[in-house]
Amino acid sequence: MLADLLIRNATVLTCAAPASGARGEALARLEVLHGASVAMSDGRITAIETEDDAAVVSSGETIDAEGRLVTPGFVDAHSHLLHGGSRAHELEARVTGALPALATGIAHTAAGTSAASDEQLVERALRDLDVMLLHGTTTLEAKTGYGFTREEELRLLRLTAGLRHAVDVVPTYLGAHVLPPQYAGRRDAFVELVIDTLAEAREHAEHCDVACDPGSFTRAECERIAEAAAGLGFQLHVHADQTGDADGARFAAQAGALSADHLDYASDAGVRALADSATVAVLLPGVTLHMLEMTPGLRDGSLVPPPKPFMPLVVRRLIDAGACVAVSCDYNPGSCPSPSMQLMIQLGARLFRLSTAEAWHMATINAAAALGLAADRGSLEPGKRADIVIWRVDDPAAVLDRFGVNLAAAVVKEGRVVARPEKTLPIMTGGAHA
Ligand code: NIG
Ligand code: FE
Repeated sequence: MLADLLIRNATVLTCAAPASGARGEALARLEVLHGASVAMSDGRITAIETEDDAAVVSSGETIDAEGRLVTPGFVDAHSHLLHGGSRAHELEARVTGALPALATGIAHTAAGTSAASDEQLVERALRDLDVMLLHGTTTLEAKTGYGFTREEELRLLRLTAGLRHAVDVVPTYLGAHVLPPQYAGRRDAFVELVIDTLAEAREHAEHCDVACDPGSFTRAECERIAEAAAGLGFQLHVHADQTGDADGARFAAQAGALSADHLDYASDAGVRALADSATVAVLLPGVTLHMLEMTPGLRDGSLVPPPKPFMPLVVRRLIDAGACVAVSCDYNPGSCPSPSMQLMIQLGARLFRLSTAEAWHMATINAAAALGLAADRGSLEPGKRADIVIWRVDDPAAVLDRFGVNLAAAVVKEGRVVARPEKTLPIMTGGAHA
């Protein structure tokens, strides 16, 4: 068999699982092939073999991985990519105990976004995508939500859908993020506006998100939007129960959403409903870290308990109940300014007590399932898209362990090397290395 690109002499972590994602025992078990090769042709994986029985010959490039770890590219199933302005000032305020309200921060970003030109927003998004790719992300979901008018939301959606980058961008219309201040006291009018915008939004996106949260929209309001969205063929996502229990988890499962994200205050009934459904529970440990939700505060020389010390319990309940659980960044300027999926699995281990096997499945195949893409990507299996990361280390546990530096050596997108953070990785062109 001939391959356009052959990676040989690798430690291959397949993350193989059905398109419904890895749950239960499959989530807890890592499949690692030592001394293996991955062959790809026309952007797809054609064969994965252990070196002994490798019958694949490269007609293009061969990469000698020298024993390094090779994994699927990360799928990041939750971001607010397009935004203007900065909220760097918020961190010190939080650290010193002057917690700014989430809605205030989102309004700040909405103002910064509307002040930015199309070119500025796109340029910034492309640079962010460059950074994500260098850190191993090969598919990114990107939501609107920082436009406080119909026109601004549609502008953000159109610009997001128009992005061209090696990272695949999946645009999502999040008209119902928070109630814009000019609609205070007129909630129904705003819900109607979001519903009226759906048809035009559908021209640019197949995904629609609603925030079902005490700080955003009620279940009844979300249901109205979700029903209209389903009628237009949108796939649904739910920002669920981030700041309190709004029955968002149960709503997401019952509405057949692809994902329910955040879930900090998901009820027991919500956890059960998710476990019994195809809806993927998307965890966002970067938010937990950056919002200091598991960090004690200081007041008058005394420790103040952290607001969400219970997060590991929520996560374990979801996993134990058999839910399909994923991990993503929620990259945005307020609640998680980091776009690194490496950091997210490292935080998942430390804050949410994820095992190595859990973290890897959650950032790859299960995150792909959260976008309805797990039949196409998210694992290293013949037929799947050849989106691959070659690491500087040889052990899946080491990627979780060594936080704070970029551990990616090379990133392959659809069978082509598109980023090489480590220039010393030996790549031979035109060779015939079996
Ligand atoms: O973390 N309900 C919204 N929550 C957003 C906050 C984004 C921001 O702070 O700008 C989220 O997904
Ligand atoms: Fe979000």
